[in-house]
Amino acid sequence: MRAVTLFLLIALNSCQSNSQSIQTQKNIKMKTLIVFASSHGTTEKVANIIKEKLDSTTVQTYNLKYKPKIDLSDYETIIIGSSIHAGSIQSDIKKFIKDNTISLMQKRVSLYLCCMDEKKEQEEFNNNYPELLRNHSVYNAIVGGEFLFEKMNFFERFLVRKISGVSSTVSKLRIEEIDNLVNTLKK
Ligand SMILES: Cc1cc2nc3c(=O)[nH]c(=O)nc-3n(C[C@H](O)[C@H](O)[C@H](O)COP(=O)(O)O)c2cc1C
Repeated sequence: MRAVTLFLLIALNSCQSNSQSIQTQKNIKMKTLIVFASSHGTTEKVANIIKEKLDSTTVQTYNLKYKPKIDLSDYETIIIGSSIHAGSIQSDIKKFIKDNTISLMQKRVSLYLCCMDEKKEQEEFNNNYPELLRNHSVYNAIVGGEFLFEKMNFFERFLVRKISGVSSTVSKLRIEEIDNLVNTLKK
């Protein structure tokens, strides 16, 4: 009788830990990763806004500047963010996309871009994110940007003044567009 009870207890325990492990795996699979590169902090700011608006407990942010190697297997959704400088996004993001294309095509992906040239923004988006990924992405967001003069070096200040005519810090982030991305991912 004792042996039977012991056997039943072991079997019950094993069932419970199995179901816990399945549950844990499920939770891990539901996780979202925001991979970004940011030169002066605006793309990072947007990553944190998205994280808060989605669910900060299941969303992680990943700055490619500090963590170049990445394991995407735990994540169901990958959001990729970058910004335009002199017509181009950060090379870290280009490399990340190139190295992980196959994996990204098997996940739910969303792309966003920070930039300040309203006339060229769509062209900049299309030139910098590969067509395959743009078409696979569930939401492509151009979220505006910021000129943060206090973070620019002398050369950058000179360039921004000359090209845009702007000479002090300005923020043109499009919160509605960030909301559109978030709401699409919540569906
Ligand atoms: C030196 C410099 C060059 C820039 N060049 C462009 C550009 O070619 N096109 C554009 O749309 N925005 C341009 N921008 C605007 C940036 O995309 C904008 O400042 C963005 O918010 C930067 O985000 P980050 O701080 O995450 O890098 C430029 C900004 C700087 C400082």
